[in-house]
Amino acid sequence: MNVVVLISGSGSNLQAIIDGAKQGDLPITISNVISNVEGVKGLARAEAAQIKHSVVSHKNYASRAQFDSALMAAIDDSNPDLVVLAGFMRILTPEFVEHYSSRLINIHPSLLPAYPGTNTHQRVLDHNEDWHGASVHFVVPKVDAGPVIVQGRLSVGDTSTASELAARVLKIEHVIYPLAIKWFAENRLSINKDAVLLDGETSVDQLQTFDV
Ligand code: GRF
Repeated sequence: MNVVVLISGSGSNLQAIIDGAKQGDLPITISNVISNVEGVKGLARAEAAQIKHSVVSHKNYASRAQFDSALMAAIDDSNPDLVVLAGFMRILTPEFVEHYSSRLINIHPSLLPAYPGTNTHQRVLDHNEDWHGASVHFVVPKVDAGPVIVQGRLSVGDTSTASELAARVLKIEHVIYPLAIKWFAENRLSINKDAVLLDGETSVDQLQTFDV
């Protein structure tokens, strides 16, 4: 299965996906890594793994629509089966999302539908939540919405800073994102209204608790 990964920064999720593919756990080929920001660590990770990579900078386009159509052209050049947003920090137009309908996924650092948007870790602490985590979901035009494929959760416990909590959640992300991609590649996922089914049914594997 041919995958294009979009990044904006560190690319630690990209690294987890690269490692999964290298170890033979993930039946995928990453044909292109595209960043909207130059010089980020994720591009160096792609380079080190000898994966084609490129930059499509939003700064070079006058409008969101123009940027998205340039991005689409760069992605479609590789003709991917799946487009993976891995820390890609741009809001996408409905046209873009529709174009990749049912083959565009994202990871978000919260237990969606709770805490869409930014600063999730601080907001979770501010609300004294017991549980926090990350969600992998199919992308729909509404931001941080869309059918959830898998979630990983942790007990917040006495973690008191957003950066500590972010680091704990990131460990979960590095497990559940490759897992979701594996399920997709194995053709085990289907979407039924707003729910994602695994092998045709809702599964306990889709909400996992981590001790991290
Ligand atoms: C992750 O927490 C992801 O959920 C969020 O941005 C972060 C990206 O991290 N959207 P990385 O670039 O994969 O290291």
